[in-house]
Amino acid sequence: MGLKQKSTDLRNRMRNALKGGGDKAIEKQKAIGKLTARERIIKLLDPKSFHEYDLLVEHAAKDFDMNKKYLPGDGVITGTGLLMGHPVCIYAQDFTVAGGSLGWMHAKKITKIMDHALKLKVPIIGINDSGGARIQEGVNSLAGYGEIFFRNTLASGVIPQISVILGPCAGGAVYSPALTDFVFVVENISKMFITGPEVIKTVLGEEISMEALGGARVHCETTGNAHFYAESEEQCFSQIKSLASYIPWNNSAKAKNYPKKSPKTRQYKIDNIMPGDAKQPYDVRDVIKAISDDSNFFEIMELFAQNIVIGFGRLDGKTVGYVANQPMYLAGVLDVDSSDKAARFIRYCDSFDIPLVTLVDLPGYLPGVDQEHAGVIRHGAKLLYAYSEATVPKITLIMRKAYGGGYIAMCSHHLRADFVFA
Ligand code: HXC
Repeated sequence: MGLKQKSTDLRNRMRNALKGGGDKAIEKQKAIGKLTARERIIKLLDPKSFHEYDLLVEHAAKDFDMNKKYLPGDGVITGTGLLMGHPVCIYAQDFTVAGGSLGWMHAKKITKIMDHALKLKVPIIGINDSGGARIQEGVNSLAGYGEIFFRNTLASGVIPQISVILGPCAGGAVYSPALTDFVFVVENISKMFITGPEVIKTVLGEEISMEALGGARVHCETTGNAHFYAESEEQCFSQIKSLASYIPWNNSAKAKNYPKKSPKTRQYKIDNIMPGDAKQPYDVRDVIKAISDDSNFFEIMELFAQNIVIGFGRLDGKTVGYVANQPMYLAGVLDVDSSDKAARFIRYCDSFDIPLVTLVDLPGYLPGVDQEHAGVIRHGAKLLYAYSEATVPKITLIMRKAYGGGYIAMCSHHLRADFVFA
């Protein structure tokens, strides 16, 4: 082949790869309100900042007629770009190509961009939209998942890992998001489960829809697998940008400082928020707003274990992580889920050098057989461990009451709070 022919051939191959799974598959994707993988990356990242890697990678499988199949980019788009002016690594599974299923080369593209993120010490964002392990590639698909999980673990606490579920995320595929720091889901679009409704029906005779089994709402309210709930992909991308404004880009960088802003004390006045009677409920988020810069509070896992509130705000322009009992919900007791929720967040803040502010107002641990049998000892221990091991600045404010074991668990002096205010 002459040079001219070679360059025409290259251009044609690039053009074909950019078409993804073709018009019919793209139409199907759009009909259910989903963007394509490439559109998602372009919409999320800063304009014209995306640099694609490995556009021309194809699968190498031969069995089950795979040698006759052309899967552009092997069903995943990877590369680097800027998110709010800062570099990130990103991948997006392309459901229009073999259902975004994960074969060996697909996995190699993902692990390559994960390695790159670790080398550059920048966040990795994974957009999941996939039917899971590519059945035709058998154990090679499983090996691919193993390589991803291993890197998720290496990256944990070193660079932020963000998972966005924008389609199915089935089988063992769910474990990569579960190993990452933040999971975003979208109403009617996200579906996460280990075994789907068909398998459940066959094995157990139970009938359930995909949405009721593993839809966005379920993972935000019931399982606690997801951290952010959005009504559309656009809203989800704007949530990711908000999150990015609070967190540092790696574990040796600081979160960006913003100009100091006073809280809106006319709107959020402590005297008006907190009832004097210790049995009266109030919304602890208003207290957070009464002390945070510009009264901004970016809540995480808003719909799960609502008896504890976690999230980011700023004090004097610097990011802090809030952990607060919520008297408005179950009187703010500690239980299995709230211990889990807070412990994971505390460990994130500790890894990324984000000071912790703990607001205490609780009657103690939730008593009962259910809690004991659900492992309140095991889960409660996670909270004690997380606070005890955290070496970031820890400030605790006992607002009204701190009774029983809850007094110790909520970052007491004995778990090495730096300052306790009462
Ligand atoms: C190969 C797959 C695939 C897969 C989908 N496709 N999933 N190809 N391996 N896992 C292909 C379909 O054959 C189809 O190809 C195209 O993608 C679109 O899929 P549809 O079924 O037409 O789409 P839809 O109706 O929207 O259904 C989506 C779906 C369904 C619910 C995800 O495809 C499905 O149930 N897929 C299988 C899910 C599954 O069992 N995965 C394995 C999990 S086990 P054509 O050519 O017709 O367009 C696993 C283990 C990992 O992941 C373990 C790690 C520890």
